[in-house]
Amino acid sequence: MAARPSKDNGFLGSGTLVLLALEIDAKMLKQVLITQPLPNAHLNELAGHCEFSVLSGRQSLASASMRDELAGCHGLICLLTDAVDHSVLDAMPKLQFVSSVSVGVDHIDVGVLTERGIPLGHTPGVLAATTADAAFGLLLAAARRLVEGDRFIKDGNWRLDNPWSPDFFLGKEVSGATLGIIGLGATGQAMARRGAGFDMSVISWTPSEREMPGVESVSIDDLLLRSDFVSVHLALTSTTYDFINADKIATMKPGAVLVNTARGGIVNELALAQALNSGHLYAAGLDVFESEPVAIDNPLLQHPRVVVAPHIGSATTVTRAKMVELAVRNAVAGLGGRRMPHCANPEVYPLTGKHEL
Ligand code: DGY
Repeated sequence: MAARPSKDNGFLGSGTLVLLALEIDAKMLKQVLITQPLPNAHLNELAGHCEFSVLSGRQSLASASMRDELAGCHGLICLLTDAVDHSVLDAMPKLQFVSSVSVGVDHIDVGVLTERGIPLGHTPGVLAATTADAAFGLLLAAARRLVEGDRFIKDGNWRLDNPWSPDFFLGKEVSGATLGIIGLGATGQAMARRGAGFDMSVISWTPSEREMPGVESVSIDDLLLRSDFVSVHLALTSTTYDFINADKIATMKPGAVLVNTARGGIVNELALAQALNSGHLYAAGLDVFESEPVAIDNPLLQHPRVVVAPHIGSATTVTRAKMVELAVRNAVAGLGGRRMPHCANPEVYPLTGKHEL
């Protein structure tokens, strides 16, 4: 509705001024902040819906210089390296949505968003197969000592006076072993399929009690007791923090291998290092750490049979493009006030059909 001068005196009344202000506001494009450059094709799609600015470099959202930018921001597209905590959210009074280019949302204060009724988009599903590939790669590399072998050759140690022999670089048999999967979401299920393809017996424990054909559901205690390989696929929350603690590690099958491509905070790193050093566990394959980038003096890095990667579980060109595409779809829905295709806090949306007969 267009605002008109008041009929009485030709001046705009205060009610009319409010209407005018609302109308101007409605016509102004919403401001979206993107914390890292994204491929142009996806930015073009966003451009029709909002004005956006992209942070250059590695600027932290918490820095004082960001305050003005945050204050005018209606939407935020961020990565798992951006801490979107209470204080950052407090600095964003106009915020209407957050879209993270990640499946995990532990870097964001989801509770605050939900309290404020702000939807949080994330990218489940599209990275499951790629992350399971990385997890299985770590499992194989740790079991078969592939990284140790690589280092051995490149350090010039494979010589005629240090030759091949029948017990040279013996590793752990994968085929026929038991693979225990903790967390049976899309990535856990993809890992289960890979294990089955390698003739492993696959067992699982998951907080959601989800089941999968061909995978035996067991208690967490049974899983730790029976598994030759344990692969972690949980989301990090206040309940899963330190879930694989010293007590649980102590109950793992002697000689087992632990693989973690989920979040570092789920596994107690000190307890894991101690179990490896004491020989209780055989090896570990880790793509994630409690604090990233992992400190060079982290005790896990000292063990020869710990194979590590810098949080690259989903790092393929194809998968990253799918993640960005989904994050942009979530953002466009957020801008239009529509339900996001993948919302991590769907309780912000009113229940549809609840009162229908
Ligand atoms: C995520 O999206 O949460 C993954 O950790 C990225 O690999």
